[in-house]
Amino acid sequence: AYVITQPCIDVKDGSCVDVCPVDCIHPASGETDYDQHQQLYINPDECIDCGACEPACPVTAIFEESAVPTQWRKYIEINANHYK
Ligand code: SF4
Ligand code: F3S
Repeated sequence: AYVITQPCIDVKDGSCVDVCPVDCIHPASGETDYDQHQQLYINPDECIDCGACEPACPVTAIFEESAVPTQWRKYIEINANHYK
């Protein structure tokens, strides 16, 4: 699955939402501790790995799971936890 990382915080451009064919990118709901990050999250169970969102993000916040930079690896879990 693709993952949204730190650069999204407080930017929340939303272009990724517009291009996602399965509508699996959603904002914080206000119900989890992770919402303090003020970013959007990709549901790993619904993402079909189409890759459309990655180039759409103006701040390069989105990476395929295996390509997430070391310092942002925790966002893999942060995105997934948002949907538990
Ligand atoms: Fe949506 Fe495709 Fe991005 Fe997955 S890779 S979040 S399906 S646009
Ligand atoms: Fe965030 Fe980039 Fe999407 S800033 S909302 S991941 S287009």
